[in-house]
Amino acid sequence: MEVILAKSSGFCFGVKRAVEKVYEQTDKDKAIYTYGPIIHNEEVVKDLEQKGVKVLDTKEDLEALKEGSVVIRSHGVAKEIYDIIEQKGLECIDATCPFVKRIHNIVQKESENGNQIIIIGNDGHPEVEGIKGWSKTPAIVIESAQEANDFTCLEGTKLCIVSQTTFNYKKFQDLVEIFQKKGYDIIVANTICNATEERQKEAIELAAKVDVMIVIGGTHSSNTRKLYELCKSKCENTYYIQTLADLQLELPNSVELVGITAGASTPNKIIEEVQNYVRINF
Ligand code: F3S
Repeated sequence: MEVILAKSSGFCFGVKRAVEKVYEQTDKDKAIYTYGPIIHNEEVVKDLEQKGVKVLDTKEDLEALKEGSVVIRSHGVAKEIYDIIEQKGLECIDATCPFVKRIHNIVQKESENGNQIIIIGNDGHPEVEGIKGWSKTPAIVIESAQEANDFTCLEGTKLCIVSQTTFNYKKFQDLVEIFQKKGYDIIVANTICNATEERQKEAIELAAKVDVMIVIGGTHSSNTRKLYELCKSKCENTYYIQTLADLQLELPNSVELVGITAGASTPNKIIEEVQNYVRINF
C-alpha cells in the first residue's frame, strides 16, 4: 500500500508566520495575549498556554487589560480593535496575514470612495468580521446563490466585491457571475488566497485517485471542513480526523493507495504522525 501526502498540507505561509511570532514573544518577560486563539488547533493553543500565552475571547477581555502585548492573529481584526489596543497603551504585535491585510486595504479604500462592499464569505467567520470592520459603510456578506439573487441596491450604486481568503474558488466565480448578470457596476477583487486554492486543487486531484483519503485538521477549522467536503465528493472513503488518536481505520486488502491532506492550521508534527502510522500499520 502506498501513502501519498498532498504537497500543500498543513500550515500555510500566514499561519506559520503568526504562530512563529507568538513563540518569539514567549522568550520575553512580559504578559502576552492573543486576540482569539492564534490558530484553530487545540494542541498548539494548549502548548502556548503552558508557555504563558493567554487567549482573549472577547472585546471586553481586551478592554479589561491594563498592560501587556496583544498578538493579532492571521485572520486579522476590525480597525476598532487596533484603536482599542492603541488607546489602552498596549503593545500590538500584528500577525495579520499580508493577504488578509490586502483585503482590509481594498475595503477601506473602496468604501471611502463611496462603493458598497460585498464580501463573499461565511458571515460570522472571524476573518469576515475583521474585513467588515474596515468598511466605512456597512458591508454585506454573501454566502449563497440565493443571497446573491435576492440582493438589491439603489440604482447607480457601485459595488466592490472581495472574498474571504479561504472561500471556494468555483463558488466565488459563480456568485460573482450572478452579480455580473444583474448588470451592476462592479469592481471584483479575487482575494482568495493561492494557498487555499492550491491546497484544494491538490486535495481534489489526490482524492480522485486514491482508495482512502484522510483529511487532518481542527473541528472548528472551516478550511479543513471544506477540504473534507471536496475530497468526499471525489472519494467516498474520506475520513476527517483531528489527530492520530481519532484515526480508527479498518482498511480492506483491496486498498492500494491512501491520500493524506491537512488544513492550514494543522502542525507538521501531527501530519507526520498520521503518515507514519498509516505507512507502518497497513
Ligand atoms: Fe494567509 Fe492564505 Fe494562510 S491568506 S493565513 S496564507 S490561507
